[in-house]
Amino acid sequence: METQKMILSRKAIREYNGQITDFQLHQILEAANASPVAMGQYDNYRLTVIQDPATLAKMSGIYEAPTVIVVSANDAGAPAEVSAGAIVHNMELAAEDQGLGANYNMGGLSSIPAGVIPAGFTPVFGLTVGQTTETFTPREVSLDRIKTNFVK
Ligand SMILES: Cc1cc2nc3c(=O)[nH]c(=O)nc-3n(C[C@H](O)[C@H](O)[C@H](O)COP(=O)(O)O)c2cc1C
Repeated sequence: METQKMILSRKAIREYNGQITDFQLHQILEAANASPVAMGQYDNYRLTVIQDPATLAKMSGIYEAPTVIVVSANDAGAPAEVSAGAIVHNMELAAEDQGLGANYNMGGLSSIPAGVIPAGFTPVFGLTVGQTTETFTPREVSLDRIKTNFVK
């Protein structure tokens, strides 16, 4: 989809009805790797793709998503939240551009079982994703949804 149309069409999807394909996952991970991160230091971040049903069953706040992708950062990864936000947003757009349902997720991070995230890294932000029957069409977005002051 054309970029501005996709940005206006994206929305939080919290109901999923099937696993994503490996090709869809590839597209999402490609978008993650195309993201900007602070000072271009990509090795301060890790992606963890969680699709193992037993691991997902131990997690809360993920809306029974069949795939959760977690962005974690090491101590040098500051400002980790900002970089992780850019990475997850790229992934969210790539997911929904393929017709998948996706959503940003912080609520599930604290329930990630031990040993899932690489040693030395802390979960910062995540994406829940799966198949959906929802469709994506541009939403009306008011320009004062986020109050703006102009300095011209
Ligand atoms: C930093 C951040 C954290 C979020 N964490 C969660 C979350 O843990 N669970 C959830 O259901 N939605 C989460 N969201 C999604 C927001 O609730 C959602 O994007 C917002 O309500 C606007 O809705 P929309 O995405 O449909 O426009 C998060 C979004 C952001 C940006």
